[in-house]
Parts: sequence; C-alpha cells; structure tokens
Amino acid sequence: MSDPTAEAMERWWRTELIDMKPGIIRFRGYAIEDLIGRISFSAMIWLMLRGELPSEGQADLLGAALVAAVDHGPQAPSIAIARMAATCGVGINSAMASAINALGDVHGGAGQQAMELYDTIAARIADGASVEGAAHAEIGERLAAKRLIEGFGHRFHPTDPRAPRLLALVEEARVAGLVSGRYAEIGVAVEAALESLKGRRLPMNIDGATAVIYSELGFPSALGRGLFILSRSVGILAHTWEQTQQGGRIKGPAPTSVGYGYDGVAPRPLEQGR
Ligand SMILES: CC(C)(COP(=O)(O)OP(=O)(O)OC[C@H]1O[C@@H](n2cnc3c(N)ncnc32)[C@H](O)[C@@H]1OP(=O)(O)O)[C@@H](O)C(=O)NCCC(=O)NCCS
Repeated sequence: MSDPTAEAMERWWRTELIDMKPGIIRFRGYAIEDLIGRISFSAMIWLMLRGELPSEGQADLLGAALVAAVDHGPQAPSIAIARMAATCGVGINSAMASAINALGDVHGGAGQQAMELYDTIAARIADGASVEGAAHAEIGERLAAKRLIEGFGHRFHPTDPRAPRLLALVEEARVAGLVSGRYAEIGVAVEAALESLKGRRLPMNIDGATAVIYSELGFPSALGRGLFILSRSVGILAHTWEQTQQGGRIKGPAPTSVGYGYDGVAPRPLEQGR
C-alpha cells in the first residue's frame, strides 16, 4: 500500500540535482564516488549549476575567475565585517554569514550588473548595431541618466591587475574554440566608450572581467552575484580564521584612538522635573 505522506513529500521537494538514498549519492546522474578525485571543484560547480560536466578548458576558465576574486583586503567591507564578527564571540559560520550578507548591489554586486549590461549591449548588436556603436549608445544613455557603469573604474588600481590577465585567458579560450569572444569584445568596447564619453580612462575592474568570463561561459546574469560569493567566501573564511587565531575582542572598524565625527546637538542640560 502506498504511503500518502511519502508521496506528498516526493511531490513537495522536486530536484534534478541530487539522487540520495541509503548507500547512493548521485549528482546529475553521476555517482559521487566516480566524481571524487576525478573532477575539479570548479567542474563540480558547473555540473551542479548547468547540469552537464564542463570540458577541462571551460572548468579551468571558470576556476580562473573564481581564483581572481577571492580577496581584496581587510578594508573591503565584507572582509572587515567578517573580521569584526570573529572577535564578537560568534562562530565562524556567523562571521561568514555576516560578511556575505553585506554583499549587495553596491559591494559585490557589480559583476552581475556588468553581465546584465553586456546582455543589453548584445541585444543591441543582435538588432544590427556594431559592437562599438552598441556600447557607445548604451553607455552614453546610462551616463546621461547619471548611472554608474558597473565593472569599470577602481578606487585603488589605475589598472586592475586581474582584468588584463583574465582577458588574456579568455583570448586563449577563444583561440582554442572554447568561447566566442563576443563578451570580451563587448567589455573592451565599453571601456573604450567610457573613455571617449568621460574623457578619462575608467579601466575594467575585477567585476567587469569576471562578468566577461561568466557570460562567455554561458552563465545567466542572475547567477553573477552567487558566483562572486562562492569565490569571495574563500577570502572571508581565511580572514575569519586568521582573526580568530590573532584573537582580539569586540574589534571595531578603527582603533578606538581614532574616534569619529560627531554632528549632533551641543551638550545641553536636561530640564528640571523630567
Ligand atoms: C569603483 C568606484 C567606486 C571608484 O569610484 P571613484 O573612486 O569615485 O572613482 P574615480 O575617483 O576614479 O572617478 C571619479 C569620477 O569618475 C566617475 N566614475 C568612476 N567610475 C565610474 C563608472 N564605473 N561609471 C561612470 N562614471 C564613473 C565618477 O562618477 C567621477 O566622475 P566625476 O569626476 O565626473 O564626478 C567606481 O568606479 C564605481 O562605482 N564603479 C562601478 C561599480 C563597480 O564596478 N564596483 C566594483 C569595484 S571593484
């Protein structure tokens, strides 16, 4: 006799990702014992998100983008948050979650937004515009609307050392026939359009470059931030662990000797009788 509760549960959670029964763990049809030791972590990410195994070259290119964005120093808000939380008596998981929760549209989200920008320019190209013309028109409209162009510009690096290296890998992949190179072309055209419209160079940054790779590899833009978080989580964990080993209690964003600015009302007496 069938168990109505078990049947209801089977209908409730439907997944194509994993088949797990006593003694059996299969991802997308592959037995875990076959995958272990034979595929890289980036290939595993691809398999889970895309349903099929990538070629070695595709997995390597994805891995390169994931390596590139692992960390950007303790002044990045997410990393600072991880380190501060690590001194507050919470566990490593809470410190990591605190950091990841700060990765939003402004901090950490530029890669996904750059992927969306590239898709918009790709649509203009599909409508008949040249790559340069499409980039110039789209960037012109966005700048006129006072919008920032995500994936370009950097506070510290005149040239972000990660971007040219990642683009060189995309070019190698294009020559090897692994990617089309169209998103790299779009990214470079955006950089040129920005320079001509702003009158100054705003170089492609890590988010603009990883966006090129994720788009070239066929990931939908909606996955951009999640992929960034997979990468940055490595740095977040490492900083959390380093801070845990260094010790420290209730560490704030700056040494207490530095202070902060107070803009409130001047000292005043509390009225009698209150
Ligand atoms: C990273 C970033 C915050 C650096 O900003 P910044 O320190 O103010 O940059 P700069 O001092 O080099 O540039 C200042 C000028 O360039 C403009 N600018 C900088 N980056 C720009 C961008 N991506 N799109 C449009 N204009 C930009 C600023 O608005 C400012 O213009 P103004 O002089 O006309 O007022 C900025 O480039 C940015 O927001 N980029 C987009 C988001 C992004 O990619 N974030 C991920 C960073 S790794």
